[in-house]
Amino acid sequence: MYGFHVRYLKTSMLLLAVLVGLSILYSYVSRPIFVVVLGGVFILGLSIAIGSNAWTQAGPAGTSDPEGAVTTPRRGARRRGRVELLSADATVSLADERRSAGIEDVFTALDRQLVGLVPVKKKVEEVASLLLVDRVRQRFGLEAPRPNLHMCFTGDPGTGKTTVALQMADLLYRLGYLEKGHLVHAMRDDLVGEFIGQTAPKTKRVLERAMGGVLFIDEAYYLYRAADSKDYGQECIDILLQFMENNRDKLVVILAGYRDRMDEFFESNPGMSSRIAHHLDFAPYTLDELLAIGRAMLDRSSYYLSPEAELAFRDYLTVRMGQPRFANARSVRNELERSRLRHAHRLAADPETSRSMDDLMRIEPADILASPLLTPSPLSALNRPT
Ligand SMILES: Nc1ncnc2c1ncn2[C@@H]1O[C@H](COP(=O)(O)OP(=O)(O)O)[C@@H](O)[C@H]1O
Ligand SMILES: [Mg+2]
Repeated sequence: MYGFHVRYLKTSMLLLAVLVGLSILYSYVSRPIFVVVLGGVFILGLSIAIGSNAWTQAGPAGTSDPEGAVTTPRRGARRRGRVELLSADATVSLADERRSAGIEDVFTALDRQLVGLVPVKKKVEEVASLLLVDRVRQRFGLEAPRPNLHMCFTGDPGTGKTTVALQMADLLYRLGYLEKGHLVHAMRDDLVGEFIGQTAPKTKRVLERAMGGVLFIDEAYYLYRAADSKDYGQECIDILLQFMENNRDKLVVILAGYRDRMDEFFESNPGMSSRIAHHLDFAPYTLDELLAIGRAMLDRSSYYLSPEAELAFRDYLTVRMGQPRFANARSVRNELERSRLRHAHRLAADPETSRSMDDLMRIEPADILASPLLTPSPLSALNRPT
């Protein structure tokens, strides 16, 4: 509230102590000795100041962050160095440009990590094409304002929004749009204060941390509380809007959350809506997609479902999908982690039996059926695929 920091209090106390010390010294020692001590104190103070400044500048990237997680920080920015201009009759191939930017790795990672999500992947491809053409145009010296890339990711929990945002940050970095390509995850509490005067510094601190990367605001609609006129969310939104406009080449903001609530948020905040250039909708997964996601997750950890366990898992998911707090791929991951625990427990319960490599990898129905959701379950007998 007072813009007053404990750090400054400590510095003032230290300076005061030095001054008192020097005045005492002045009355007890001869003048030449006093001048030497004074010079020493001055040099010491100067080196501490320079050292701490260098430390602050080299400091925070990638450390743990009370105001939102920082993920995949990048050491050192990719330089958008001076490129030699091509002549007007030169030709370039976009495939070569794609290779030189190294973006194939991002698409391979997206395909490998994420089952389905075809429309989302298509949209990511479109953004990549836009920036790729922009890059090539720059090589010919063709001027144009940098495209606006603030985005909105809508979808239910566990549909891959955060995962895609991380890949997007990497992509934008590789294509030279972002200097660092890290992702700062923030929610309302990281941005909005409870008392007057807290919101602006809070929001600005998070924005500073996100500079050069992506600021991912999860459940962004909580920033705005229409019913509460004393709420500081609007102050935060105003700062965000200004920052998004003035620093659009240094920071990409991704707002994320449920689709319907996001739509309401944009209706109440047309300024925000007009600054969002790309909307990516993450559809809930079908049962078959969830199963495929589960198989892929297990495969990455060298486990697999026996054919019977696969049927049991299908039954489990059918029940789980209709329950509260179902979180798509995250629920799949959680249940598979529990299955892994039961698998280990089953093997450990019979320690004298010799186990093969396959035994160590294979999840059996008992590892799934032990789930409280399926005991007893009439569904186990129904809905079996033929
Ligand atoms: N299509 C998918 N294929 C494989 N794993 C996925 C898929 N979508 C999400 N996941 C996994 O599910 C978990 C939750 O995803 P996340 O990106 O955090 O979802 P959200 O941000 O939408 O809540 C992560 O472990 C992620 O890797
Ligand atoms: Mg998320």
